[in-house]
Amino acid sequence: MAERPRVFVSRTLPAPQAVERLREATALDVWSSPRPPTVDELRERVAGCEGVLTMLTEAVDARLLDACPKLRAVANMAVGYDNIDVTAASERGVLVTNTPGVLTETTADMAFALLLAAARRLAEGEAAVRGGAWGPWDPAWLLGHDVSGATLGIVGPGRIGGAVARRARGFGMRVLYRGHQPVDGFPGERVSLAELLGRSDFVSVHVPLTPETTHMFNAATFAQMQPHAVFVNTARGGIVDQVALREALVAGRIAAAALDVTDPEPLPPDDPLLSAPHLLVAPHLGSATRATRRRMAELATDNLLAALAGERPEHLVNPEAWERRRR
Ligand code: GLV
Ligand code: GLV
Repeated sequence: MAERPRVFVSRTLPAPQAVERLREATALDVWSSPRPPTVDELRERVAGCEGVLTMLTEAVDARLLDACPKLRAVANMAVGYDNIDVTAASERGVLVTNTPGVLTETTADMAFALLLAAARRLAEGEAAVRGGAWGPWDPAWLLGHDVSGATLGIVGPGRIGGAVARRARGFGMRVLYRGHQPVDGFPGERVSLAELLGRSDFVSVHVPLTPETTHMFNAATFAQMQPHAVFVNTARGGIVDQVALREALVAGRIAAAALDVTDPEPLPPDDPLLSAPHLLVAPHLGSATRATRRRMAELATDNLLAALAGERPEHLVNPEAWERRRR
């Protein structure tokens, strides 16, 4: 009988059945600390492995890949895979997979929760209640912005952007989008980025982090938004120039921002961004429901086991690595 492939899983998965399947099919090593492995710890543990199941906190770069010559597959438990140098993996014939689809609705719920919370100033209200600043009912206190009937601009009309657009339609919003290929049935009007920024009351970002999208939201783009606009980011922190965002909020060039992602993560409590007004920050909870995290772990496991069995995994992000392995 062939020896079972060695696999490292970089965190305790909230999915006992997925772990059981891995344990049956592989020689499994699970990182049991709640903190991510350091670069050195990761290299040590993956060094002799054929497969690794990673979180978005693990940097899989050329150095790591070179230190792990037996590695055949990296299964990321996330839809985003900006933590992985995919080109370097492809060059070495290492298959990379992600977990699209299963977290779409959950992440869209989070984007909408942030949009509503920022529009209606929930974080400020809650802080006032707890901080003793809640006075008698005041007709002019903590006034926010209507979501119903407003215009939402979606930057990145993919799976998650499309799910946010469907929610927006339920709130009677007009939807604009900017991006090349909207998902099927995307309910919105395609416009340029400048027009989207100029017309939207709410702007929600749903693009992956790539060299092209890094700091796509910067002083120039915030300046094109309306002064009452609310900015929502559930994608990746690196898409936003946080110095520019802070300045835009301080200067009132936009009304509010709600972020589920920052750069870095975690954002240190003394980061200057947190001193900006009208800012709500959540600690990267976009896909954080029990059911969705279980589905993500199951899907990452499916992808990893398929790859190790010599099959083409369903959610392969680098088909060129598959071609390379077959040559
Ligand atoms: C989470 O941020 C993901 O990419 O799945
Ligand atoms: C507000 O609470 C209202 O009754 O208008």
